[in-house]
Amino acid sequence: MKKQVIVSGIQPTGNIHIGNYLGTIKNWVELQNSGKYEMYIFIADLHSLTGNMSPEDRRAQILRTSAELIAVGIDPNKTTFFIQSHVQEHTELSWVFNCVTPISELYRMTQFKDKSDRQEKNINSGLLTYPILQAADILLYHGDIVPVGQDQIQHVELTRDTARWFNNRFGKYFPETKHLLTKISKVMSLLDPNKKMSKSLGSGHVIELNDEPEVVMKKLSKAVTATFVGEGAPGVQNLLLLLNEFGDQNIYQDFLTAEIDGTIRYGELKKAVAEAIVNYFADFRQKRAELLSDENKLNEILQKGADKARPVAQKTMEEVRKMVGIR
Ligand code: TRP
Repeated sequence: MKKQVIVSGIQPTGNIHIGNYLGTIKNWVELQNSGKYEMYIFIADLHSLTGNMSPEDRRAQILRTSAELIAVGIDPNKTTFFIQSHVQEHTELSWVFNCVTPISELYRMTQFKDKSDRQEKNINSGLLTYPILQAADILLYHGDIVPVGQDQIQHVELTRDTARWFNNRFGKYFPETKHLLTKISKVMSLLDPNKKMSKSLGSGHVIELNDEPEVVMKKLSKAVTATFVGEGAPGVQNLLLLLNEFGDQNIYQDFLTAEIDGTIRYGELKKAVAEAIVNYFADFRQKRAELLSDENKLNEILQKGADKARPVAQKTMEEVRKMVGIR
């Protein structure tokens, strides 16, 4: 039987943090290693053009995010791993999808509204049509499953709608894509544990996979554990979650018991979490540095990935052009 196709991507807008990792990327690595799927993972550099990054930063960040994904376990021998803009069919299919998608559907997208608020001086059309390019990313490879975080579900729903609009007009061709959520609950900010961990809150709120041990220790020492009236202690819950994910199970159980007994010491908990994270990502930091020390080799890996993706994308585009009556 033909393997189900998994497609997912990530914008190269910053270093990967533990919220991204537990929310999606760890899941990608597990799905990849299960051997059950045909996987496509890419760096969504075209999507990043909707933001305010400088060209220099963008170019550097594309390489850093690529190195980070490989260092964290995306294996270019198992996964078709590439840079979105290296396969030009993404933009061509996205134009076709632009022409079947009602504009009103795009104005409804919560991410469009959020981003328009955040960058009110740069509400470009790309921000609005962003989810159409995403639908093209997925459907170009006939993606059946898209493992993403909670915030991307609406975009995957739009992908399903886009497929339907296309199929109704031109004939049944694209599959009904489904999203796949990770089991893990949300990782919260260290300094404001009522909010989801996000780099837009500031660097003290997040732990990047590449943070040096001293940085991890320092950020955790400042983590908020205070109880808020009527809300319990979300900061403590968040630290326990991190310890459970990254730490030794016995140590985690001891802290959990102490929390229930009321004998827990938050200073010790923070230290235990910091140590667990530092150890967990020690290999990662080393591999990342190695990959970035040889850009030619890294670029070669990425070219090979694009060479694998391209024939699949080209075949889809040839069929789509025929169906819509061009060329
Ligand atoms: N919009 C996604 C994000 O910000 C990134 C992305 C682009 C993506 N294209 C995709 C995710 C296709 C899954 C599938 O996280």
